[in-house]
Amino acid sequence: MAKVLQTPSHSLKEFRILPGYTANDGNAPNVQLTTRLCQKREQFIELNTPFLSAAMQAVTGVDMAISLAQLGGIGILPVSQTIDEQCAKVVQVKRFKAGFQTDIMTLSPNQRISEVLSIIQKTGYTTFPVTQSGIFHDKLIGILTDKDFDERRDLSVQVSERMKTDVQFGTEINELRAANDLMIKLGRGFLPILSEEGILQTVVFKKDLDKHLRHPNESIDEQKRLLVGAAISTHAEDKERAQELISNGVDVLFIDASDGHTEYQAEMIKFIKKHSETPVVGGNIITHEGFRFLVDSGADAVKVGMGIGSGCTTQEVKATGRGQGTSLMEVGKSRQNFTKESGRYIPLIADGGISGPAEMSVALALGADTLMMGNFFARYTESHGSLMRNAAGEIVKEYWMEGSMRAHNMRRYAQTKENFFEEGISGYVPHVGSIFDKLPMIIQMLRATLATAGCKTIEELHSDAVLEMQSPSALLDSKIHDIIPMNIDQQVL
Ligand code: IMP
Repeated sequence: MAKVLQTPSHSLKEFRILPGYTANDGNAPNVQLTTRLCQKREQFIELNTPFLSAAMQAVTGVDMAISLAQLGGIGILPVSQTIDEQCAKVVQVKRFKAGFQTDIMTLSPNQRISEVLSIIQKTGYTTFPVTQSGIFHDKLIGILTDKDFDERRDLSVQVSERMKTDVQFGTEINELRAANDLMIKLGRGFLPILSEEGILQTVVFKKDLDKHLRHPNESIDEQKRLLVGAAISTHAEDKERAQELISNGVDVLFIDASDGHTEYQAEMIKFIKKHSETPVVGGNIITHEGFRFLVDSGADAVKVGMGIGSGCTTQEVKATGRGQGTSLMEVGKSRQNFTKESGRYIPLIADGGISGPAEMSVALALGADTLMMGNFFARYTESHGSLMRNAAGEIVKEYWMEGSMRAHNMRRYAQTKENFFEEGISGYVPHVGSIFDKLPMIIQMLRATLATAGCKTIEELHSDAVLEMQSPSALLDSKIHDIIPMNIDQQVL
């Protein structure tokens, strides 16, 4: 006889958090969202904000990974690409030095102004270092800007005749603050940085630097490089992928499998743990047994969630899955018992079904240390999906699930070409603008929730939050009711 659990499972949407006592120094600006991503040796990789962009083709490319790490989270590069492509993206994120640019367009002294004009028209760039050979990493001999020539009379004149040669520069500067100080002293918006031998190394634009200095929460490693994660599948050929990603500097590996309670998964985790110290995140699981299995296999953090992704059809086609509230409660309890027994803390990642600040807060209160989101991040300009116009004329972003025909990520679902069926759909989500404009407000909302709950940290939220399940009518009251929202263009008569 099959075992039947008679208590229904619950979604994150069914819970609300009750207020706790908030002292004067416990208001939102005093709340810290620093949290543990995964174990690393005897310590943890920590993030200043609890956000992970999902390992999905539509979501995480280099742009998203860099932007989210600058805002204190981390991007996880998807597995559905070649090993070389995925490693190249890891390298791009790790090489990114906010404010320092190493690849802007340079000119050679004997180019004609007519060529420069066409470069300006094509790229919109207006400031160009001039090097002896025209190649970036060469001796700097001048700077040309769009103000240095007459665009009608000078067309056949050479760059060398119009460039400024009294260039002010920095030498061997690695620290952004030092570059900033020098730019302020020189009153410049642009600063080339040279080696002792006069070779151009990097350039700094004041506008980029200001942007960087506005992000004090960046996720960085010991060498001050941005953090980045990458997904691998459980298939044997991905042992090579794991090794390549590690040698290219990935900070954490995520096993991308819809069901993490499998022998394949344990084999992959053990393989990685045997060959490297790079942390590995296992998943996905939704039960106590699944959690213990992954921890016993050596996982450094565990992803929780099955069948609840926004475009996921797993529950419809396979009837497997569980409400995310219940999954987190059960796994959270299991983690608590494990910590008591072993003294070890395994961070939990709530993965899927989180699309707004209320669900984020509830997931964190139910034990999640971080939040992995696809749909939520797909909406930003920086996501990997393209912008498109829908039939109603609205600007939207493509969003397709990893189990969809389009993604063809069969290894995530232990499928082959012959037995492939979809576990997710392709669609689109509204475009909401840049992550840099919108995520800071979401961070404020989370801080405010913690403050109302009487908690100053996510750790306190785990131990002290009081949540309550809501009846269907209480949930109706918890949303806008009995009022019609006013459009901005409506007028009072
Ligand atoms: P979302 O944030 O609700 O859109 O969920 C994103 C999460 O759904 C991902 O991080 C995956 O764990 C999961 N997921 C991605 N693609 C599929 C799919 O095709 N079917 C089921 N789950 C998926």
